[in-house]
Amino acid sequence: MDNEKTITGTGGNSDYHVPVLLRESIEGLAIRPGGIYVDCTFGGGGHAREILKHMDASSRLFAFDQDADAAKNAPADERLVFVPNNFRHLQRFLRLHRVAAVDGILADLGVSSHQFDEADRGFSTRHDAELDMRMDRRQELTAFQVVNTYTEQRLHKLFEQYGEVTNAKTLAKAIVDIRTSVSLKGISNFKAALSAVVKGNPNRYFAQVFQALRIEVNDELGALRELLQQIPSLLKPGGRVAIITFHSLEDRLVKNFFRKGVFEEEEEHPFENNTPQHQLKIITRKPVTASAEELKRNPRSRSAKLRVAEKMIE
Ligand SMILES: C[S@@+](CC[C@H](N)C(=O)[O-])C[C@H]1O[C@@H](n2cnc3c(N)ncnc32)[C@H](O)[C@@H]1O
Repeated sequence: MDNEKTITGTGGNSDYHVPVLLRESIEGLAIRPGGIYVDCTFGGGGHAREILKHMDASSRLFAFDQDADAAKNAPADERLVFVPNNFRHLQRFLRLHRVAAVDGILADLGVSSHQFDEADRGFSTRHDAELDMRMDRRQELTAFQVVNTYTEQRLHKLFEQYGEVTNAKTLAKAIVDIRTSVSLKGISNFKAALSAVVKGNPNRYFAQVFQALRIEVNDELGALRELLQQIPSLLKPGGRVAIITFHSLEDRLVKNFFRKGVFEEEEEHPFENNTPQHQLKIITRKPVTASAEELKRNPRSRSAKLRVAEKMIE
């Protein structure tokens, strides 16, 4: 592949991933001179390259990605440090680089197009491969292990909560009933073995099932919670955080945390002072969504929602 061409033309490796809400998220970060920035989800590097363009020579960018494939998209730029790890360990890795506070944090959540398109990663219902779905292939848990070892009740809950699968209970029961006699390791086997329980359009049905498995395998909501909790203490006063989400479970966590410093309404502690809710100011009252032009150019931007907040100046 001609890396130079694909990397420079679009502000990132567009064969790997086309960045969504690019202009809007960079504007949201309000990049300031001499700042330290973090891209939590480097991927094809589209957002990172745009951040680098807006940074001066003395600024620095730390780019995280837990997928080893992303590292090859890192441009040779001495202001950039690539950290091949999960952003749930953000503070720990920044400390290793002697960074205590930063001016801006960006996270563009979920999977990259590359991860979907690479058949052997097992993310896509379109390909036949092993049910894998690990973003970080150093971890043990795969989607196959989830369907092969989880209890019926746990499977039911995850299909219901993470995939909004209409007949989650029936699906969980079917998996537990057949997995002792039929191997569910391959995507085609999995789909064929469960064809009898499919409700509605099979493509849509399995897309929901796969989304649920992917969220579970990568503990996507757990990682997001841990990231959010580190943000108020990591941002310098006036520093910005911009987060792009792709489904309502993520968006709800970000919205509540930016507004109140908690994840769910009932978690508020009315008698406690100094809770994190006092530390962030909302910049985007409503989530920013893709323009008509972007939607036409990149259908993947359809479900993207950007929220931006700023650390208050004490
Ligand atoms: C939507 S893509 C980001 C695309 C990127 N903004 C671009 O312009 O190319 C999400 C990336 O974040 C990575 N990722 C997702 N969750 C992560 C986590 N908890 N820690 C580190 N990287 C993560 C994925 O491996 C994937 O490469």
